[in-house]
Amino acid sequence: MIPDGLSSRNGLDRLALWFENFASHEVNSTSPLYGRLTHGVAQHEDLLELASHATREPIPNMLFGAVHYLLLKGAAHPLAAYYPSVSGADTRTDDPLPALRDFCRQYRAEIIHLLQTRRVQTNEVNRCAVLLPAFGLVARQEPGRKLALIEIGASAGLNLLWDYYRYDYGAGRKVGPADAALALTNEPRGAQFPPIPAALPIVCDRLGLDLNPVDLRDEDAVLWLRALIWPEHAQRADRLQQALAIAQAYLPEVRSGDALDLLPDALNHSDEDCAVCVYHSFVINQFSEEARQRLTDLLAEGSQQRPIYRLSIEWMHSPRPQLELRTYRGGAEVDHAILAACDGHATWMEWLGPA
Ligand SMILES: C[S@@+](CC[C@H](N)C(=O)[O-])C[C@H]1O[C@@H](n2cnc3c(N)ncnc32)[C@H](O)[C@@H]1O
Repeated sequence: MIPDGLSSRNGLDRLALWFENFASHEVNSTSPLYGRLTHGVAQHEDLLELASHATREPIPNMLFGAVHYLLLKGAAHPLAAYYPSVSGADTRTDDPLPALRDFCRQYRAEIIHLLQTRRVQTNEVNRCAVLLPAFGLVARQEPGRKLALIEIGASAGLNLLWDYYRYDYGAGRKVGPADAALALTNEPRGAQFPPIPAALPIVCDRLGLDLNPVDLRDEDAVLWLRALIWPEHAQRADRLQQALAIAQAYLPEVRSGDALDLLPDALNHSDEDCAVCVYHSFVINQFSEEARQRLTDLLAEGSQQRPIYRLSIEWMHSPRPQLELRTYRGGAEVDHAILAACDGHATWMEWLGPA
């Protein structure tokens, strides 16, 4: 939840700063449209006031997600002409801000409803390409064992199906079913090539946990996922559609609730002889400090029964998102490695860990 008082003068100033930071740190380089709109929002009180109705973070993603969702749903308005995702290649390039302000006046009630009922729960399937070398390391440490997957913050569950996808890391390094319906790419950077497994580790069990699982059969929920992808990111949108088609065929189980409540039971979900892998990506920034500690404690406690591997891609206290692998055994964390740095959408990774 976001702090109270954002609609006060002081609150709107803080919000303006938030939008400016969002522009310079997140969107300017990859979404020219959101870059321009974000600066505009930061300078207009009517738009900041509208954004202040969001009940969850991150507010810029919530506001732009709501507008994009309504446009994708067919809202007939001149603003659509600025969105490549709606109008194709033939987009307008003049100042989009007057159209955004008019759109927000016209669709105020619908936008506020979305700001108060939806969450930012992008499901970025390419993150599987960064997780894969870590799953490979676990499989190497547990020869002969299959992997039991538990994903915290699984959203629609697309990253629970990573063994259904094919991976291309360049330099001829490809792995995964040759006939996979989804091929993911990742560009390794830096001095060390990541240890891509020669074959995908075998999965014996998979289970997602999420406060609000995206129901793959609900067209509106799926459209909200699509709307969270920025308008110029056609490749990400295509990947999402392909991953959704696979997931809609397999419907991976994602249990609804707070992961901290569901985890103790989930840890006993799989057969004794599987290696338990708990993983999360871009999730624990939504946890309080106490909740993060509780998660660590639960994993340590759970490891009294059998080892637990924890894989994560998070962006909390590091300059870039990072892939980490922790091992819990006998009630305590016994190993921790920072394996790689990557970008938020996992288009590249720089391997830092063991070869
Ligand atoms: C930004 S999304 C990331 C989804 C996915 N991990 C990915 O990388 O594509 C964060 C997800 O975490 C979920 N989440 C946040 N707090 C949670 C909690 N306490 N328990 C379970 N899920 C949670 C949200 O509902 C949301 O689906």
